[in-house]
Amino acid sequence: MADKKQIKTDIIGSHRVPTGIPGFDELCGGGILRNRTYLVSGSAGAGKTIFGLQYLYNGITKYGENGIFIATEERPEQVRENVKMFGWDFEALEDEGKLAILDACSTKIGIPSHEKYVDVRPFDMRSMLDQIIAIQEDIDAKRALVDGTTSIGFYLQDPAKIRVELLKLSTTLEILGLTSLMTCEITDDSMVGRFGVETFVTEGTIMMYYKRTDSVRVRSIEIFKMRGSNHSQNIHPYDITSSGVVVHPHEEVYTG
Ligand SMILES: Nc1ncnc2c1ncn2[C@@H]1O[C@H](COP(=O)(O)OP(=O)(O)OP(=O)(O)O)[C@@H](O)[C@H]1O
Ligand SMILES: [Mg+2]
Repeated sequence: MADKKQIKTDIIGSHRVPTGIPGFDELCGGGILRNRTYLVSGSAGAGKTIFGLQYLYNGITKYGENGIFIATEERPEQVRENVKMFGWDFEALEDEGKLAILDACSTKIGIPSHEKYVDVRPFDMRSMLDQIIAIQEDIDAKRALVDGTTSIGFYLQDPAKIRVELLKLSTTLEILGLTSLMTCEITDDSMVGRFGVETFVTEGTIMMYYKRTDSVRVRSIEIFKMRGSNHSQNIHPYDITSSGVVVHPHEEVYTG
C-alpha cells in the first residue's frame, strides 16, 4: 500500500519543476511552478544565460523533459561552443530531438543562418510564436528559455507595446505546456526589469547580482518574487564553476 506521506510529496512534487541547479531548488520548495514563466534578471556577466541553459540541460538529462532555447542575443553556434566547457553537449541533444534552438539572433544582425530553426527579419512576435509552436510540435518540450527579453524590448521600444508582446509570449509558452525562464539584462541593481514592465508579465523574478565590493566582484542570487510559492527572502551567494552555476543556500550575502 502506498504511503500517504509519499503521495503527498508526489502531489506537491508534480507541480514543481526542479531546476536541478545545485542549491537553488531548496530556496523555493523544490523548484519553480509548472506551466509558468519566470524572469531571470541581472547585470551583464551575472550568469543569466548559463543559469537558463543549465535549467534546460538538467531538464533533458536529469528529468526527461525536452527543452526549447530561443536565442535572441547570442548565435546558437557560439552557445554550443560556450557550454562545452561545462561538459554539456548540446549538439548531441539536438540530434536526439530533445533540444531545439531557435536562432532569433543572426537574421536580426544581418548575417545568414544555417540553423534548422530560424526566426525571420524584421522582428515580429507573431512569427516568433509560430516558430515556437512549430518547434513544440516537433519535440514536445516541457521547458523553454527565452534569452532574452532585452533585445526584444529594444526592438519594440514603447514600454506599453513591450508589455503586451511579452505577455503574448509568456501566455503562449504557458498554453504550450512549457515552464519557462526569460532573461533580462539590467544596468542598475535597483531595477527589476530593463523596461519596467517585464516583471508584470511573469509569475516570478529571480535576481542575479554581480556586485563589486572593494577589489572583488561578488555573485549573489535572490528570489525577488514567486507567486503562489513560499521562498527564501534572503540573498544567497553563488559561483560559476566548471559544471555551471552553484548556489549556496545556507549562506547569506548582505548588500550594502
Ligand atoms: N567556466 C567558467 N568558469 C567560471 N566562470 C565562468 C565560466 N564560464 C563563464 N563564466 C562566467 O560567466 C560569465 C558569463 O555568464 P553569462 O553569459 O551567463 O552572463 P549573462 O548574465 O547572460 O550576461 P549578458 O547580460 O552579457 O548576456 C562570464 O563573464 C564569466 O564571468
Ligand atoms: Mg546572457
